[in-house]
Amino acid sequence: MRSRYSLWIGILTTAGVVSVVSGCGGDSGSSPGSAAAQLSAKTAVAAAASSPAANLSASLGLANLRAKALLALLTQDEKLQLIHSEYQMSQVPLGGGGYIQGVPRLGIPDLNMVDSSTGGGSTMEPSTTFPATIAVAASWNRRLSYDYGAQIAKQLREQGFAMGLGGGTNLTREPRGGRTFEYLGEDPLLAGEMLAQRTSGTQSQKVIATIKHFAGNEQETGRGGGNSQIDERTLRELYLRPFEIAVKEANPGSVMCGYNMLNGFYTCENQHLLNDILKNDWQFQGQIQSDWGATHSTANAINAGLDEEEDVGPTVFLTPTLVTQALQSHAITQSRLDDMVRRKLYTMIRLGVMDDPAKPGGTVDFDQANAFAQRTAEHSMVLLKNNQGQLPLAAASLKNIAVIGGHADAGILAGGGSGNTRDPVTGAFAGCGGLTFPSGTGCHWWPVPWLKVNPTIVQSIQQMAPNATVTYSGNTDQNNPFVAYTQQQIDAAVALASKSDVAIVVVVQPAGEDFADLGSLSLSNPSNQNELVQAVANVNPHTIVVLENGNPVLMPWIDNVSAVVEAWFPGQAGGPAIANLLFGKTYPEGRLPVTFPVRDQDTPTWGQNGTFSPNPVYTEKLKMGYRWYDSQNIKPLFEFGYGLSYTHFKYSRLSVHTTPWHDLIVSFRVKNDGQVAGVDVPQLYLGINDPNEPPKRLAGWDRLNLQPGEEQTVRLVVSSQDQSIWDVANNAWKFVPGSKVYVGASSRDIRLTGG
Ligand code: BGC
Repeated sequence: MRSRYSLWIGILTTAGVVSVVSGCGGDSGSSPGSAAAQLSAKTAVAAAASSPAANLSASLGLANLRAKALLALLTQDEKLQLIHSEYQMSQVPLGGGGYIQGVPRLGIPDLNMVDSSTGGGSTMEPSTTFPATIAVAASWNRRLSYDYGAQIAKQLREQGFAMGLGGGTNLTREPRGGRTFEYLGEDPLLAGEMLAQRTSGTQSQKVIATIKHFAGNEQETGRGGGNSQIDERTLRELYLRPFEIAVKEANPGSVMCGYNMLNGFYTCENQHLLNDILKNDWQFQGQIQSDWGATHSTANAINAGLDEEEDVGPTVFLTPTLVTQALQSHAITQSRLDDMVRRKLYTMIRLGVMDDPAKPGGTVDFDQANAFAQRTAEHSMVLLKNNQGQLPLAAASLKNIAVIGGHADAGILAGGGSGNTRDPVTGAFAGCGGLTFPSGTGCHWWPVPWLKVNPTIVQSIQQMAPNATVTYSGNTDQNNPFVAYTQQQIDAAVALASKSDVAIVVVVQPAGEDFADLGSLSLSNPSNQNELVQAVANVNPHTIVVLENGNPVLMPWIDNVSAVVEAWFPGQAGGPAIANLLFGKTYPEGRLPVTFPVRDQDTPTWGQNGTFSPNPVYTEKLKMGYRWYDSQNIKPLFEFGYGLSYTHFKYSRLSVHTTPWHDLIVSFRVKNDGQVAGVDVPQLYLGINDPNEPPKRLAGWDRLNLQPGEEQTVRLVVSSQDQSIWDVANNAWKFVPGSKVYVGASSRDIRLTGG
């Protein structure tokens, strides 16, 4: 709450001077605020200019000038209060994840933060469960990613949160990674651009966006400090690149360092990562906050660039006492402490949080959010197989529809851990059937009465085919959602499928933030889902598999089913979204942001026997994701960038030009030469002329919505950095001329070649 004694600092842009104006006035007393209130414009400028951080570039602008003026007014105790958040799930206001107490006398509001990967993570406030982040990546739709960030942020603000911890972007090096669903796939450009959009969307709502987990935090095994060992070139070209793109394009308010070590140093006290790269090379102007409990020292962390500790106790490092001791022993400097505080103030001012603080008790438009959740699911589903036009289904020709498995009669699966939304009553992740934090297996979302309740998959299918008999068969025990199917249940499903016109089998692969990754990409929870699919496919040639998952999935039954739809964790409106796709009310638009391998053994990280090292060495270097399959000549089940449509697209007339400043301009034509409208995602890959580079890297894409017969020109511009390699000797990007140009419908379906 703003106190009666409130100070407003205004900046007269035209005169180019800072003025400090007393706001509501009132009790001045002897507080520093009262002295401050009497500061003249000139004194404030002088205070700002003489502050230790004054040498920072003037280009930081007015928000920074104002932050420095404000900094000069803070007492030391107040500064220490602004760099440390207490965390007690039950005590943090509003059921959030962390809280920084404000300084009311100076108009600095309290700051509440909360997880927001797929929606608000408050344990007290109802929130919409949107589709998982990997689904957003699968849309390849930049605008959708912006809106996704904005939609979630809107809810956060109405709930009183001004910081959203939702910008996860560790790359899918390890396809079995427990948090893969929270991230944006395996390609740094796709992930980076989608993250930049999401960040801008979040910040458009006056919510500070946190991007995370910086960096090399690609698995859950060894989560408490495993040492990721990554050479500099691989780091720069792959794992840091999405962060770099987001920092440079979207200017996030905060970057969260992770739990892991990177090359022998905890990321939250890693000089090279935080100071050298993030703050110096990239000129990041926001604040670096630790993951919850990821701070391991006081002076080391502060000197390496950490600006704020998020504490989970009992061992804490950025407390007033410890930081004061570090100052007294000269282990840290006052100017560094001031810089930490200035960054926080600057971020709050720049993003509008200072002057227009988030207030709890607002009204969330759940209907509108629900419609957006459904739209997002519809844009992101990927059609993986569609034999002989099995899909879309023609409702009029179907009398009996079997829907089997996956709790399609009751709920939709979501990822577990802090990337989920939470049940406001129990504090558990939404609809976990009683599981509490941290959930090892992920959770089901079951309809919650006060949210907009959607029809289930079964009900939604019934709505699409009102004259058909729609029957569900499978496990109906919601208290035991992941138990293996009994032989009786499989027999019942087979009996139903054999007398149905079509059999829709829903399979699930739970995953979540926890302390384990998946042991295999095989459907494992329930353990015998492959047997279920195979048994159904044996009796019904029109078997359609719908996947709810966040990781790639192995499909030993792929040749025996007629269609496969990848729905990801589709959020609370997954039921209607899936039915709309199956019946052609919407068309498939998504493309895979990760490779789906044929076998676990084909993945770059399987090693001898699939054992995880808690201290992973990234020996495959640049050959990660599709780059691995291409360079090893391994045919995946479904490649990166792949996705079918209900129509067909033709590519022609490639032209490639280079500007004097090394931009590559690539243009070509795409025509919908099929019978129905559809979305195409033409992709541009480059073969960089360097022996250590993989055969192809994504360099751009577009998304076209074309009517039958319609044709459009696509023009993509590739910056010189995206045609460069990281030159370790010179610590800089090095442009490599003569890239090969590939244009196609996926990383392997190349239709045009040039360059
Ligand atoms: C996760 C973060 C999350 C934080 C707060 C940590 O366990 O790694 O991603 O933001 O908790 O809930």
